[in-house]
Amino acid sequence: MNNSSRMRGKVSVCMWLLLLFGSCWGRFVVEKNSLKVTFPKVLKGEYECAIGNFGIPQYGGTMVGFVAYPKANRKACKSFDEFDISYKSKPGGFPTFLLVDRGDCYFTTKAWNAQNAGAAAILVADDKDEPLITMDTPEEDSGRGDYLQNISIPSALISRTLGDNFKKAIENGDMINVNLDWRESLPHPDDRVEYELWTNSNDECGPKCDSQIDFIRTFKGAAQILEKKGYTQFTPHYITWYCPEVFLSSKQCKSQCINHGRYCAPDPEQDFSKGYDGKDVVIQNLRQACFFKVANESRKPWLWWDYVTDFSIRCPMKDKKYSKECAEDVINSLGIDLKKINDCMGDSEADEDNLVLKAEQDAQIGKKSRGDVTILPTLVINDRQYRGKLDRSAVLKAICAGFQETTEPVVCLSEDIQTNECLESNGGCWKDKNANVTACKDTFRGRICECPVVNGIKFVGDGYTHCQASGLGRCEINNGGCWKGSQDGKTFSACSTYETSGCKCPVGFKGDGVHSCEDVDECKEKNVCRCRDCKCKNTWGSYECSCRGDLLYIDEHDVCISKKGSTEFSWSFLWVIFFGLAAAGVAGYAIYKYRIRSYMDSEIRAIMAQYMPLDNHGEPPPNHVQLDDI
Ligand SMILES: *[C@@H]1O[C@H](CO)[C@@H](O)[C@H](O)[C@H]1NC(C)=O
Ligand SMILES: *[C@@H]1O[C@H](CO)[C@@H](O)[C@H](O)[C@H]1NC(C)=O
Ligand SMILES: *[C@@H]1O[C@H](CO)[C@@H](O)[C@H](O)[C@H]1NC(C)=O
Repeated sequence: MNNSSRMRGKVSVCMWLLLLFGSCWGRFVVEKNSLKVTFPKVLKGEYECAIGNFGIPQYGGTMVGFVAYPKANRKACKSFDEFDISYKSKPGGFPTFLLVDRGDCYFTTKAWNAQNAGAAAILVADDKDEPLITMDTPEEDSGRGDYLQNISIPSALISRTLGDNFKKAIENGDMINVNLDWRESLPHPDDRVEYELWTNSNDECGPKCDSQIDFIRTFKGAAQILEKKGYTQFTPHYITWYCPEVFLSSKQCKSQCINHGRYCAPDPEQDFSKGYDGKDVVIQNLRQACFFKVANESRKPWLWWDYVTDFSIRCPMKDKKYSKECAEDVINSLGIDLKKINDCMGDSEADEDNLVLKAEQDAQIGKKSRGDVTILPTLVINDRQYRGKLDRSAVLKAICAGFQETTEPVVCLSEDIQTNECLESNGGCWKDKNANVTACKDTFRGRICECPVVNGIKFVGDGYTHCQASGLGRCEINNGGCWKGSQDGKTFSACSTYETSGCKCPVGFKGDGVHSCEDVDECKEKNVCRCRDCKCKNTWGSYECSCRGDLLYIDEHDVCISKKGSTEFSWSFLWVIFFGLAAAGVAGYAIYKYRIRSYMDSEIRAIMAQYMPLDNHGEPPPNHVQLDDI
């Protein structure tokens, strides 16, 4: 057995234990830094310390301060407030490196209490003589996980001997001056930084998964600029392990592995009977790895950051969207060739190696200065494992520390980063073809797809496939996304200003209101003209009734009347007014007025005669309303 395959065996067995019991100890390279003591003279020198996996280390920088050892609460498991101890620095005072003892509670609890007491850094003195280890965050911290994200002071584990020496010096009343140096913690050989992130598409593993995806989202903008300008070469990686041969036919291996037990991942919910299986995670991981490969081949490796963020937003497990279809929608929206990705993924049922996943398994084994990768997420910069919180500015600082001096890009020097990724295929976001409205927004964190607010009108939707104007005034923008049509000088719209959302075809039309509204043939579909012997003619958006021969159609009553009568009727109406006024004003025209009235009487009688038969029908006239242009 050569060295590499023995190593591989070790990693895989460890992974297997992870699968079964959720825990495992891997070979792990401890990143060490130097802690320089400048005073007192007896202690002067450089000492090793191991930087913790939380808090914000000052990669590329140094921190100067003096060491304090508390009189009480020496393990820092309780808040220092309870002991009236405070290390808040006064103006002009040196920052405090708080020395505490290992044991009794989580490292993160100690760091949090030290930070709250005002310490600038925490030094944890080991309680046994042993090689230094890396202090990690607890896997689970029931309920109070949110303080982990708020730890900002750097932390370091020091040997028991150094701790004892510090304590002795403090007892003697010496002031210990220390200098924590991160300048050499990363190699910086040239003007390009190579870094890799070992990650996972699983989004249901609690705080670790959340912090992983939060990091990818917030770091995306910086990562993309660095990559586009050639300052960095980034590679994402995915951990898998294989199922030992004796378990090949077990239920676990069947549900967690692909390619006949070659590539496995733990069940996302740690429950084999429900939700997604480890197998689903391996397949999505493979798709992400292939996405990177194909995007890298088309010289756009930075699109991986968009794919992974969009996938996490659009296809979360909790919405049951963690699927092939959803992933393919995201791939299409980013303009990457789906066929190439599917070719790269190959057949997950086949009893053969998958080239991409095999290469990933080989890369898991540590080479040179890097240890085996066994925990997720793991960030490796210039072949060194990064220690500290996965936080945008902390990681950026670490990457920047990886450039040869004076070759670091501007982004390392300035905080506000501008990109414009919306120019290219609209960043994969929703866009209105007709109106100049897009959901793509350029931010220093890279582009986001979010329905916009245009002229005070709010759009709502997922930002990727649809956004729709809502609220008052929505019809002013592209007609609220609704159908609108004009014909014969008339215009109809399916957007109503009385409704705050949605589209509805106007009266006289039918359809979905968004893509189309079709004229309703009222003559065929409803018995609209009920007048005797009259004809119905359909028009666009309405209809007309007309009577036979000389008869005139009266809209309000849906009846036909003689044209002559009608004419006289309207004329006589004017006469009434005219002569009514005349009669009131001029009494001398009484005789003339009498003649008129008798004339009127006969006319009115004639008109009434037209209406009389109707009264006998006893049926109310149908209500026919002329449609207005809206
Ligand atoms: C952590 O920080 C956030 C925002 O700065 C704050 O809302 C939250 O309360 C803090 N959590 C704790 C435990 O202090
Ligand atoms: C990505 O492409 C570059 C050159 O275009 C190549 O050097 C590099 O190895 C590729 N990375 C991967 C992981 O294929
Ligand atoms: C769309 O709007 C943006 C900003 O509001 C403007 O810069 C651009 O020129 C507009 N494009 C068109 C085609 O009107």
